[in-house]
Amino acid sequence: MMFIVLEGIDGSGKSTIAKMLADYLGERGKKVYLTEEPTKTWLGEAVRRGIEEEKNPYTQALLFFADRAEHVMEIKRKIEEGYVVISDRYVYSTYAYQGAQLYGILRLEDAIEWFNKVYEPMRLDPDVVILLKIDPARGLGFVNTRDFREKFEREEFLNRVQEIYDLLAQSHGFYVVDSNRQIEKVFEDVVGILNPLMFKNKI
Ligand code: TYD
Repeated sequence: MMFIVLEGIDGSGKSTIAKMLADYLGERGKKVYLTEEPTKTWLGEAVRRGIEEEKNPYTQALLFFADRAEHVMEIKRKIEEGYVVISDRYVYSTYAYQGAQLYGILRLEDAIEWFNKVYEPMRLDPDVVILLKIDPARGLGFVNTRDFREKFEREEFLNRVQEIYDLLAQSHGFYVVDSNRQIEKVFEDVVGILNPLMFKNKI
């Protein structure tokens, strides 16, 4: 029984690593529930629509939290049923992305204070958070954006997101894995972190 979260900017390889990890743990006899945020429910769709329509950062943050409030209940149920839950993104995405969106509107401390308040009643702390860290320009190379200016703006934005992730990694004790490498190497590190935590009784 465990709750594992993977975080990282766009193109950091989270989704691929999450799938590899789910297979790896499944092969080793764990019951695995692989999930993601935004979720695949209509709430997740509402979130995607909010992003597409470029709703203001407050609206977006609240949409992410609405989706998460339901997601947390689902995760709790799965943990109680004995699953290892792997979530591709979780609350730290809101801190990092919406914190970055609010840059210039709210001071980061104030944004974080607000997120903390909204999150507190639904709070469910993961056992492990792994931050996959990739250079934003490199990460964007894996994301299809053709427009040069759009790419440049996205890169600047992702630099801010990454900065907030770094702060969170320090204050929350995330494991940080260098994702500027072949996916197999990245996965090796992820497994190296999780194996001692998950299979310690068997060695
Ligand atoms: P997602 O579909 O997971 O994209 P990716 O495959 O790049 O991870 O997430 C969609 C976008 O939503 C992504 O750019 C990150 C962003 N996001 C937030 O801004 N806040 C959040 O709380 C979450 C969960 C995601």
